[in-house]
Amino acid sequence: MQTKILQPTAAALAEAAAILRSGGLVAFPTETVYGLGANGLDAAACAGIYEAKGRPSDNPLILHIADRAMLDAVALDVPDAAEKLLAAFCPGPLTLILRCSDAVPARVTGGLATVGVRMPGNDTALALIRAAGVPLAAPSANISGRPSPTTAEAVLSDLAGRIPLILDGGACRFGVESTIVDVTGAAATILRPGAITREMLAEVLGEVRLDGGLLAQERAAQARNGAAGSGAPGHAAMEAAAGEAPRAPGMKYTHYAPRAPLTLLQAPPEELPAAFCAALAEAKGRDVGLIVTDETAAALADKIPESRMARLGPRGDMRTVAARLYEALRSFDEKPVDMLFGEAFDESGLGLAVMNRLKKAAGYRIRRCGK
Ligand code: TXA
Ligand code: MG
Repeated sequence: MQTKILQPTAAALAEAAAILRSGGLVAFPTETVYGLGANGLDAAACAGIYEAKGRPSDNPLILHIADRAMLDAVALDVPDAAEKLLAAFCPGPLTLILRCSDAVPARVTGGLATVGVRMPGNDTALALIRAAGVPLAAPSANISGRPSPTTAEAVLSDLAGRIPLILDGGACRFGVESTIVDVTGAAATILRPGAITREMLAEVLGEVRLDGGLLAQERAAQARNGAAGSGAPGHAAMEAAAGEAPRAPGMKYTHYAPRAPLTLLQAPPEELPAAFCAALAEAKGRDVGLIVTDETAAALADKIPESRMARLGPRGDMRTVAARLYEALRSFDEKPVDMLFGEAFDESGLGLAVMNRLKKAAGYRIRRCGK
């Protein structure tokens, strides 16, 4: 199958909508990452998404809607907390987990009684949903396990020959996937951090919890990494083994992985250059790539060629860091590096989403340096 990339003109949108209505797949831009869309009410069309991505079949899809009528068609009831979040942040980078109606195929929900619903804050995405006339099921438009695509070219490099059409909306504004909030329980719970931060949600809802399963997963992975060195599983492993799995099924899988192994270096800003120098010295003889802020890149300018550094922008500008993250991870796919070192960030505000993705990409290998 030949894969076309088209600018989102009226004619291209009509062509895309026709493909979607006949059960086919179209990749399209959103404000977070590119999505791989299918008619969300057509189980066979949704099955095609799993096939094209190589996605594990138990990982449910989220539905993209353009208006309130579509929400009411797929969700059974909309609790007060959801109404508040819709008013504050939608359209925008937020997915709500709601009880689902009979209209939603089990192929979308993975058989759960709930469905993820999101109204994207991107004109092309909204125009496409309206033109198709149905909610669009759309995961990120990457091969499963790879970094999500934030450009049409990144979609093409993963899905060329597997889908007929990519709508090109340029680079995505936020660059990390939507915040997922489960509003079906007593307390709203973040299942995946994103550009709508925990702090922003708390301003609207008061208390917001972070899924305990995310933390348990992180502790278990770190204990496994530690165990590889020491030979014995630590405390954290046992604690986490008794703990929960992440409640968003997709969060338990390996994700965002670049082809070379990545280790994160965590240190106070003034000690980061020394931490990277030590890592470079240790890796002598091997081809190393770095994923770093402009400040760290400048400090290392005479230690490593510019072509071996992917820059995330200024350290204080987390919006830019998030927007460049996946391209930085993907940039080393074409360069034959043996290993990667990346800079760690504070986990407040947008830093929580950035570190969630970076830690997964690193298989939770984090080296704490300095004080
Ligand atoms: O920003 C985004 O959300 C992008 C763009 C394309 O909209 N989409 C995206 O989809 O990231 P995907 O499939 O890559 O991630 C959706 C996540 C998965 O981790 C999945 O397990 C979780 O949402 N999910 C879907 N339905 C769920 C449900 N009913 N309960 C809990 N988690 C759910
Ligand atoms: Mg994804």
